[in-house]
Parts: sequence; C-alpha cells; structure tokens
Amino acid sequence: MGEVVLRVEDLAARFDGRTIFEHVSFEVRRGEVFVILGGSGSGKSTLLKRVIGLYPPAEGRVAILGEAMEGLSGEARNALLRRIGVMWQSGALFGSLTLAENVGVPLEQHTDLPPEARALVARAKLGLVGLADAAGRLPAEISGGMAKRAGIARAMALDPPILFLDEPSAGLDPITSAGLDALIKQLARDLGTTFVVVTHELQSILAIGDRCIMLDKAARGMIAEGDPRQLREESDNKVVRAFFRREVLD
Ligand SMILES: Nc1ncnc2c1ncn2[C@@H]1O[C@H](COP(=O)(O)OP(=O)(O)O)[C@@H](O)[C@H]1O
Ligand SMILES: [Mg+2]
Repeated sequence: MGEVVLRVEDLAARFDGRTIFEHVSFEVRRGEVFVILGGSGSGKSTLLKRVIGLYPPAEGRVAILGEAMEGLSGEARNALLRRIGVMWQSGALFGSLTLAENVGVPLEQHTDLPPEARALVARAKLGLVGLADAAGRLPAEISGGMAKRAGIARAMALDPPILFLDEPSAGLDPITSAGLDALIKQLARDLGTTFVVVTHELQSILAIGDRCIMLDKAARGMIAEGDPRQLREESDNKVVRAFFRREVLD
C-alpha cells in the first residue's frame, strides 16, 4: 500500500445550526480510487468542498500530501491547493475557448510557460483522455462524455498527484459512463494518480472503487467504510445493504 496522501479526521459540516455530517474520518493512499458515496443530499459535495478547503474554517482536521490544511494560509495554502485537481459536478468548460485553450487556462494562471509550451502540454493532456483529435473544437461542438473527459484533462493540467471528481458520470448514458470509468482506472494505473470520486452510481462504484465511504443523511455521517464489493456481500447495516443490492428499504 502507498503512503497516505489524504487524511481526514473528525470532520463536521453544519449550516445554520443544522448538522449535515459529523465525525467523518478516513484516509486515502497513493494510487487508490477512493469513492465517496451516498444518496442525494447526504453531503458528498459538501464533504469534498470541506476537504479541499473551500469552506474555511473547517471543523475537524484535513491533511493533504502530509500537510495540515488548518495550519496554512495565503501563499502556502494556495501552493498546496495547486497540487490537487478538481472537477466539479457542473464541470463547466469555457464556451468561447477550444478544448486545448481550456486545458491551458490553469497553466496560464499558475506557470510561466510560454504559449507554445502551454499548447503542447494541453495537447498531451487531451491525448491522455482520448481527445487528441478534438483539441481545436469548442465545447458546443462535443458530446457530454467528451466534455467530462476535457474537464478531467483540465483538472490534470498541473500534474496533480490527487484528482477530485464530483459525480463525473452524472447525466451520461451508461456506455459513455462506463468509458469514463475505464479512463479513471487507466489513469490511476498508468500515472499513479490518486482519485477521490464522488458518485452515487452503483455500477461505477463497483467498477472503479478500491475503497469507499458511504454517507447517510439520516445518520448525519458515515455508515460504511471499506471495499465496496465486500460491503455489498457483508455489511450488516440495512441502509448499506439496500444501497448495494439496489433494494427497497423497508
Ligand atoms: N452552502 C450551503 N448552505 C446551506 N445548506 C447547504 C449548503 N450546501 C449544501 N447544503 C445542504 O447540505 C446538504 C448536503 O448537500 P450536498 O453536499 O450538496 O449533498 P450531495 O452532494 O450528497 O447531494 C443538503 O441538505 C444541502 O441543502
Ligand atoms: Mg453533490
């Protein structure tokens, strides 16, 4: 097993006194595909935002690549955040920019690379996600699945060791969604990139997840942690069983 690249301890999220989740703790190791799952409204996106420090100050502790987020501010914090890639649920690309230009945006913001070098890196990233031939197209000229791939390429622009994806397969047809799962697995295997993927799609979870945690709205926190295939067979929590077996909860 690789070293721990993300450690979350006793994290909580509350809005206006309402607890969304509390006592959330887990570790992610290098090269893993780690899945955060749970029903709609269970706090998956909120957890992601807390973990990457979008909602300071967080209640609890988060360490990314061995550095405690709570202790960082200003430039040190930005430097750490540049080392993680994020693709949000909306995953919006800039509509007036080509795919290559979209992938070049983080490079323009965070590096001193000249335009020709940025274009080369952008094309290489698009190649990784199977979009080498679409580099010159505008977002309006590609399919939903291609847009997700381009979003992943953009999140990978700065070679982050950890990539966070919020519901990457939302709104995709099953075949395109399976293609995206295959891409995530391939990138994890070939590049050693660690993925933290938020999803509630059972087939994706079983296909890509090395380990997972499950959030539950009623429990206001984690109700399961482990290998998703093992949880499906062995969990004695009835919500977890119902989720993994796609059964009605009585
Ligand atoms: N900024 C916010 N202010 C108030 N409530 C919020 C905010 N963000 C999320 N919530 C609430 O937190 C709960 C969990 O939301 P979310 O994390 O988006 O769930 P999920 O991604 O699992 O569907 C929801 O009840 C949502 O309304
Ligand atoms: Mg969400």
